[in-house]
Amino acid sequence: MLRDYFPTFIGRSTYANPLFNSITPIFHLAENLPPMLANEQLIKQLIVNLALNARDAMPAGGRLTFETACEASGPQPMICCTVTDTGVGIPPEHQEKIFDPFFTTKKQGKGTGLGLSNVHRIVELFGGRISLISSPGQGTTFTIRFPVMPPPGEHSA
Ligand SMILES: Nc1ncnc2c1ncn2[C@@H]1O[C@H](COP(=O)(O)OP(=O)(O)OP(=O)(O)O)[C@@H](O)[C@H]1O
Ligand SMILES: [Mg+2]
Repeated sequence: MLRDYFPTFIGRSTYANPLFNSITPIFHLAENLPPMLANEQLIKQLIVNLALNARDAMPAGGRLTFETACEASGPQPMICCTVTDTGVGIPPEHQEKIFDPFFTTKKQGKGTGLGLSNVHRIVELFGGRISLISSPGQGTTFTIRFPVMPPPGEHSA
């Protein structure tokens, strides 16, 4: 499912937008990911919010990489999605605040500061976790892990 979402919402519609002109999208999307619990509109919102933030972080252009993979090594298999930009990065003192509602560094009238708080809410709704790694001047990677949906009839311990 995620494999379909990324190219559809980011590759075609979002990147057809001239606002994304100077940004090179790169996709490393796993095939045959196991199913996860999700809602199409909310996952779309999540991806678009991360992509728009990445775009804003790369005013002079850059690379925006989307990656999906299944991690089966832990106690519970997870679907791992990363969104990486080569933008301005997020200073350490902002990293703990960016998921707060209304936290924004954008000019008045430009950002509401609700994008990432929405992303956080959506991730939690489907039992996932989000984290980030960022180096000022080099870029940012957001990593989201969602639990794989157990096969029908299987009860979690
Ligand atoms: N990829 C990124 N690179 C650099 N900074 C980022 C990135 N993503 C988020 N930020 C920082 O986190 C802040 C909060 O992001 P969030 O998406 O919640 O709000 P916003 O983008 O400012 O406004 P809105 O999403 O409502 O238009 C941003 O203002 C910016 O400072
Ligand atoms: Mg935003």
